[in-house]
Amino acid sequence: MQSYYVTTPIYYVNDEPHLGHMYTTIAADVLARHKRMMEHDVFFLTGVDEHGQKVQQAAEKRGITPIELADQVVQRYASLWPELSISHDDFIRTSSERHQAGVAEMWKLLLDNGSIYKDFYEDWYCVPCETYWTETQLQDATAGEGKSCLDTATCPDCKRSVEKIQEESYFFKLSDFQDKLLEHIHNNPDFIAPESRKNEVLRFVEGGLRDLSISRTTFSWGVAVPDDEGHVIYVWIDALSNYLTGLGFPDSAKTEQYWPADLHLIGKDILRFHAVYWPAMLMAAGLPLPKRIFAHGWWTVDGEKMSKSKGNALKPADLLERYDADTLRYFLLREVPFGSDGDFSENALKLRYNSELANDVGNLLNRSLSMLQKYRAGVLPEVSEEEPQDRALIADIEAMQREVDEHLNQQAFHLAIERISQVVRHGNRYVADNAPWVLAKEGNETRLNTVLYHLVEALRLIALQLSPFMPTKTQQMFHQILNDEQVDTNNLHFHEQAGWGLLKSGHVCQKPSPVFPRME
Ligand code: MSP
Repeated sequence: MQSYYVTTPIYYVNDEPHLGHMYTTIAADVLARHKRMMEHDVFFLTGVDEHGQKVQQAAEKRGITPIELADQVVQRYASLWPELSISHDDFIRTSSERHQAGVAEMWKLLLDNGSIYKDFYEDWYCVPCETYWTETQLQDATAGEGKSCLDTATCPDCKRSVEKIQEESYFFKLSDFQDKLLEHIHNNPDFIAPESRKNEVLRFVEGGLRDLSISRTTFSWGVAVPDDEGHVIYVWIDALSNYLTGLGFPDSAKTEQYWPADLHLIGKDILRFHAVYWPAMLMAAGLPLPKRIFAHGWWTVDGEKMSKSKGNALKPADLLERYDADTLRYFLLREVPFGSDGDFSENALKLRYNSELANDVGNLLNRSLSMLQKYRAGVLPEVSEEEPQDRALIADIEAMQREVDEHLNQQAFHLAIERISQVVRHGNRYVADNAPWVLAKEGNETRLNTVLYHLVEALRLIALQLSPFMPTKTQQMFHQILNDEQVDTNNLHFHEQAGWGLLKSGHVCQKPSPVFPRME
């Protein structure tokens, strides 16, 4: 069985979950579900990043210990993921024994392979980003009003204060990997996506890689450097290792089964860590590189990136009070191409829902099942002859099935949904073109049979493709179409269910009840 290993970033516990965290995790979930339906052996990992100065400071502010803070925030994630139908296979915490042991092992590998040395770090650090900055980098970045980031002592990325640090530190020989990284990126065109992000990484690496400070001595919340307890391992080295420790690394069973990862999904804010530092670490450790890294865009609110400090973060709990999980899942992946930024608006959500779900899918479901009730008492009739337009509908569905898979392999969620929507619109046109009410009036029973059958079977296959996006709504669709309360959208397989004509004549469908009621 082909394996498929997909990951999300592990989220910092200084902050409550917000829409941005939901977004990456929902995207990973859709892929995991789709691949399970393809009968791949899926491993879907998410988790939390508990260490580092930022988390330590956030805990201090609240007057609690970092682990107390982490425990609280972990609870939030633990209750949020089931509410959003997230089907992860494991949840990694960086404070766990299994993770820390794996990080220490990774450190030893890097050390044994000659990629770590001890020196002195004297430069800048941004705690909110947990990022080192050189004087030159700050000097080169503009902070506005003719000032550089060095003048204002602000971070070029997040614009918050940076601090000067001077301490003994271990370094990772990142500079050794410049050529190898460039070669890898050029030889593996799918390694970094989208294209614009790949170019960004290429420019960064071509600009020259400096060795990376990878330990701190001025705070303690992290994994201790093996045999040098005064040093804490840099939180990004610690965090990136989760993709391996989540598999039980260095213990080889699952690592062998699933590594290298098929896909790391990340936001564009953490591209450099994933597309430069992580591959270099893996090369240094002699381990294979992930097959693909996709950096998606940011959701903004009124044009600004959501963040706790700005106080504009959209809280999942508030959204879930107003909209069901499937509608949010659908909207987030439909509205904006995965690599682009998008501005979140409830108006846009309602428009999208009403036009594509209530009007198109909901309408097709309702009118088809109603007509089946009205003209055939809910019993699926026999098809005795097919016209070209019937075959065209089937051909469109079969093409859709292939293309949805192709789009998802490129993480083009919006195109996958758009392709399904095309079939839904085709279905609604088919109703209008065939006018079953006229056929009934004319007594054209043979043609009416064919049309009713094609509509219901098309709906079943539309629901099948939509199910990774909307596992609950499509479950309701299946209940009505298959007249079976037991259908489990967590356990459907294309190989068994995606063929045309699996519904048999004589099958009884339920009366329709609205799955996508209009929103006001
Ligand atoms: N802990 C690090 C990641 C370590 S991975 C080895 C981190 N955590 S985070 O809590 O800040 O979450 C970052 C991720 O959350 C982003 O990369 C992105 O996946 C998601 N998002 C956070 N804010 C976002 C938006 N406003 N919009 C979309 N996604 C964003 O960085």
